[in-house]
Amino acid sequence: MKLADNKATLSFSNGSPSVDLPVYQGNVGPDVIDIRKLYAQTGMFTYDPGFLSTASCQSAITYIDGDKGELLYRGYPIEQLATQCDFMETCHLLLYGNLPDAAAKIDFTKRVTNHTMVNEQMQFFLRGFRRDAHPMAIMTGLVGALSAFYHDSTDINNPEHREISAIRLIAKMPTLVAMAYKYSAGQPYMYPKNKLSYAGNFLHMMFANPCEDYEVNPVIERALDRIFVLHADHEQNASTSTVRLCGSSGTNPFAAIAAGVACLWGPAHGGANEACLNMLEDIQRMGGVSKVGQFMDQVKDKNSNVKLMGFGHRVYKNYDPRAKLMQETCKEVLTSLGLENDPLFKLAMALEKIALEDDYFVQRKLYPNVDFYSGIVQRAIGIPVSLFTAIFALARTVGWIAQLNEMIGDPEYKIGRPRQLFTGSVRRDVLPIAQR
Ligand code: ACO
Repeated sequence: MKLADNKATLSFSNGSPSVDLPVYQGNVGPDVIDIRKLYAQTGMFTYDPGFLSTASCQSAITYIDGDKGELLYRGYPIEQLATQCDFMETCHLLLYGNLPDAAAKIDFTKRVTNHTMVNEQMQFFLRGFRRDAHPMAIMTGLVGALSAFYHDSTDINNPEHREISAIRLIAKMPTLVAMAYKYSAGQPYMYPKNKLSYAGNFLHMMFANPCEDYEVNPVIERALDRIFVLHADHEQNASTSTVRLCGSSGTNPFAAIAAGVACLWGPAHGGANEACLNMLEDIQRMGGVSKVGQFMDQVKDKNSNVKLMGFGHRVYKNYDPRAKLMQETCKEVLTSLGLENDPLFKLAMALEKIALEDDYFVQRKLYPNVDFYSGIVQRAIGIPVSLFTAIFALARTVGWIAQLNEMIGDPEYKIGRPRQLFTGSVRRDVLPIAQR
């Protein structure tokens, strides 16, 4: 961390002595005020629910400029990565800090594909779930359960353990997601095929069956790969911060990633793609494009609790660059599958147009986020809506691991332990039960 030339001075209106606080500069983005000694110096905490103004760590992985609508992985713009690199290259970049050359890419891909199978016991574990269990409930269980299978890679403080668990997690997530799907469909699990690409193998495990040949459609393979690249990391979002907080106790990497999966499930985060598609289907049932105006009135009515899912973002206040790339992919997939006139896509475009022109959304700087279009793509591919967030988890796993590894390697890392402003009862005595 680089000290800035200036420092911050905190003064108090009650005459308490003022306090000087160091200011640090990042390579780009806002400076930070170092408040680590604030409590020791003043006996006060800071108050910042939802971390609206708090940098919880220093990080060199992903940078977002929410006002410009810019997303960089290790300095590379997401637009270039999505159009010039595949997911394996992106994983290498996030994990090791550099894009692989051809030989390094082959080596990395080989290491991942060597680990695509899961222990055979895993399927018996899966059998304990109801067939209608939500895939994210299954994934939370299965990812956590990996720590019971790979005892040789559970020491988070051992770099070799972290490396092998990283490769295992990236390799096994597609297998687990596909198993969760096959289980819900009552179909046999398909073993991974290592000669296929990462996305191609996932499609194979999802849609092949033992009775017939399955050919991977290259347009769909590319679309899925792009979904993976776009979702691979997003700096200190809720699930990543969860992984860091969970991992900060020294728990094993599989347990920390399972915590991330659980957090991602929520509709305000990764669950938004599922919620967005459900919303589009609801409007379609109500009457489609002709009912958009009525739906928008509900969204704008503060008493209705209805949100335009797939819109708005804590950080992006201009546009989400991933949404633009996803919209492109959406058009490509629908055209290739002959679904250009898909009513949900038309509805999504109509909603987007109206929202972008509406004062309510303009004033609040609400733009489509990546989930607005990713659901339509996945649905066109044949992925059931309830599996969308599990696919997001699959893609985000590499980001979670990169962030977890970065935290463990940071000499300034400490167990995460936020403080509070206590508003409950002050000390009181327990009365005998008859007098309460
Ligand atoms: N529809 C309608 N109004 C909205 C929406 C929306 N999607 N999003 C925000 N607003 C309104 C809020 O009601 C609030 O209005 P107010 O100032 O009149 O009270 C204002 O915009 C600011 O919103 P906040 O909730 O304060 O913004 P915050 O940064 O906390 O929330 C969030 C961001 C959670 C993503 C929110 O926009 C949302 O719930 N969106 C829908 C869910 C969604 O798509 N989530 C995916 C996020 S991307 C991802 O995880 C990959």
